[in-house]
Amino acid sequence: MSDEARPPRTAVVIPAAGRGVRLGPGAPKALRALNGTPMLVHAVRAMAASRAVSLVVVVAPADGVAEVKHLLDDHALPERTDYRVVAGGDTRQESVRLGLAAVPEDVTTVLVHDAARPLVPVDTVDAVIEAVRDGAVAVVPAMPVTDTVKEVEPAEKPGAPEQVVATPVRARLRAVQTPQGFDRATLVDAHATVALAGEGATDDAGMVERLGAPVTVVPGHEEAFKVTRPLDLVLAEAVLARRRANDGF
Ligand code: CTP
Ligand code: MG
Repeated sequence: MSDEARPPRTAVVIPAAGRGVRLGPGAPKALRALNGTPMLVHAVRAMAASRAVSLVVVVAPADGVAEVKHLLDDHALPERTDYRVVAGGDTRQESVRLGLAAVPEDVTTVLVHDAARPLVPVDTVDAVIEAVRDGAVAVVPAMPVTDTVKEVEPAEKPGAPEQVVATPVRARLRAVQTPQGFDRATLVDAHATVALAGEGATDDAGMVERLGAPVTVVPGHEEAFKVTRPLDLVLAEAVLARRRANDGF
């Protein structure tokens, strides 16, 4: 096939190298089971469910690369989907950068998806990919926020009272999810030039924004929520149980 005839390739980088401190003691978050299957396997399957995705790069804890490889070898993916496992870094931003470095040159669209969002529906994944293929350089799925959000002057001691600085207009706020989709060159450029101190960037689109490039929002989905605290595990298992019940009828 000539280069021109080849369809654009889409790869997904899944950062899964976090410990899951807020979830409490136990295995690294991505390896925690939801209804008997590790969260990471749910997340990889959610990406592989899109026909457009030909490669999934999983970024594993540095001491867990072999374990994650075995895990993915043991759980069937569609034949069209390849996977690779690479070692992650100390921050999410570093892990994404290491995952991006393992994406082959011929990939034009890259998605970044948190292993901690195992239940995102395939329609959301496809909507993000379509928006990138239609010309957007950075695309984020997002939901309107339901709580009113306050900006505060953070207290030095956790739990201490804090002063409110501002109340942004709720109707203008969106809570962003993943997968976030990018023109590959733009995301690589962002990771090469935007270095955030401390925790690093919690959001890849935010790094592209800092380059001055436009970021587009498409509708997210309530089932794309991030598993962060123990109650989120209960919610995730309830969503899976509802899906199973609905499939049965
Ligand atoms: N992540 C990563 N490498 C890191 C830190 C985070 O790949 N050094 C990944 C996590 O595995 C997760 C995603 O980034 O899939 C989103 O991060 P978060 O929800 O904060 O997960 P953790 O960092 O694992 O959780 P916590 O912050 O509670 O420790
Ligand atoms: Mg974290």
